Amino acid sequence: MVDSLLHFFLFASAVLMALIVCIKSTKYRNKNKKRFKLPPGRKGWPFVGETFPYLKPHHATTMGDFMENHISRFGKIYRSNLFGEPTIVSADAGLNRYILQNEGKLFECSYPKSIGGILGKWSMLVLVGDMHRQMRMISLNFMSHAKLRSHLLRDVELHTLSVLDSWSVRRTFSAQEEAKKFTFNLMAKHIMSMGPGEVETEQLKREYITFMKGVVSAPINLPWTAYWKALRSRSSILRVIERKMEERIKVMNCEGIYGDGDEDDLLYWVLKRSNLSTEQILDLILSLLFAGHETSSVAIALSIYFLGGCPEAVRQLRVEHLEIASNKKQKGDVGLNWDDYKQMEFTHCVINETLRLGNVVRFIHRKALRDIQYKGYDIPCGWKVLPVFTAVHLDESIYKDPQQFNPWRWQKNSSSAAAMSGNFVPFGGGPRLCAGSELAKLEMAVFVHHLVLKYDWELAEPDHPFAFPFVDFPKGLPIRVHVIT
Ligand code: HEM
Repeated sequence: MVDSLLHFFLFASAVLMALIVCIKSTKYRNKNKKRFKLPPGRKGWPFVGETFPYLKPHHATTMGDFMENHISRFGKIYRSNLFGEPTIVSADAGLNRYILQNEGKLFECSYPKSIGGILGKWSMLVLVGDMHRQMRMISLNFMSHAKLRSHLLRDVELHTLSVLDSWSVRRTFSAQEEAKKFTFNLMAKHIMSMGPGEVETEQLKREYITFMKGVVSAPINLPWTAYWKALRSRSSILRVIERKMEERIKVMNCEGIYGDGDEDDLLYWVLKRSNLSTEQILDLILSLLFAGHETSSVAIALSIYFLGGCPEAVRQLRVEHLEIASNKKQKGDVGLNWDDYKQMEFTHCVINETLRLGNVVRFIHRKALRDIQYKGYDIPCGWKVLPVFTAVHLDESIYKDPQQFNPWRWQKNSSSAAAMSGNFVPFGGGPRLCAGSELAKLEMAVFVHHLVLKYDWELAEPDHPFAFPFVDFPKGLPIRVHVIT
């Protein structure tokens, strides 16, 4: 009897304990769930969430229906489920700045795995921490201010002239293709001393077209998909780079010294001065070639497109560039120099406006490294965070008539210039600010200089930049040019 009572007592205590633990842990879970005051939003479909509507192609000069609808329904900060992860989307200028400035402390770069698969695990876009800093230093050195003045300006001009001179006998062609040719040749020359028109340069250019399609496609590795083809192109590109590396090492070994010549390209520089492994060098070169030509070629095509629709801006540009050109002629100078570049004030307004309205890089990928509070909302640790630059650049509370191409808004005397500049982040910001931003602006300015002095142009057939989300012209921006006599 005593035995049975004891058993009953033990059994009842165990059940009671289990109940207490269960209630406590449910309470804890509920408390934990309630702890976050998340921004309003929607989850969308299981797994894919709202990724497809978010990425739906739209005119590049708009933020797209998805963003517009979500902002008007939930506000400038909302939650969603994108790229398979719970996400906070920010169209808020203040939060975007906060994210950029707190890189590595509260937020960290976090691109989808497929980007690492294609650009390589040593690509700067996916690296974080010390390794990122090391790669960044190499890239910054390669595009330093001193190098821009001493080498790059001259080469940017030579490559511009080589492309623009070929237009005089062609009349109608794809401006997007021409811009790609210009930026690719420039990068290939400076990264690996590969000359325009050489067999290997042309092969590399072709491979990059397939490669680019894979970077922005769904990461499905099956033999007919764009991603699969891009992975094959990646291998071909790496083979070319590796061949160039071997040639270079042979020369360096023959010379017996690692010379200090000014004409070094990036490949020579990393072989000579860094302790990176072959795999790291290959990924660095591949991703710099990619970052350095895709973005700035789109920016140049966008400037041709916007200027084509704004004759008043072209007239004002011509006045500015004619003055620079005639001053040079009087002095007997040939080739643009840094002082000429600095005089291109209105050109810089055109560049800013092109980048604001065209939004070459529309958003970036980050994740929260800890629980963060912002404007009364919680951003839970580990969540994806997407600062959307486009939404800020097209925000009418910052940019009056945001859909208008209006370079004059950037003139120094403009009353809202400070607010506009503070919220203008076409190149990102903070510790990951685009390493090629100065080079990109230089390329645009020099291209515009010779373009407006040599040609008049118009669209040969209607075309418009689309965000896929990478910006592209569906017809390649066909233009007709007339030589200015
Ligand atoms: C108009 C042209 C360009 C635009 C709009 C642009 C935009 C950007 C943006 C927004 C980022 C930041 C990405 C992030 O934070 O996740 C970035 C990074 C980067 N860009 Fe550009 N870029 C342009 C041209 C170039 C050029 C010409 C180069 C030269 C090779 C270049 C090299 C890089 C590199 C190396 C990074 C990574 C920086 C880092 O992680 O520290 N970009 N770019």
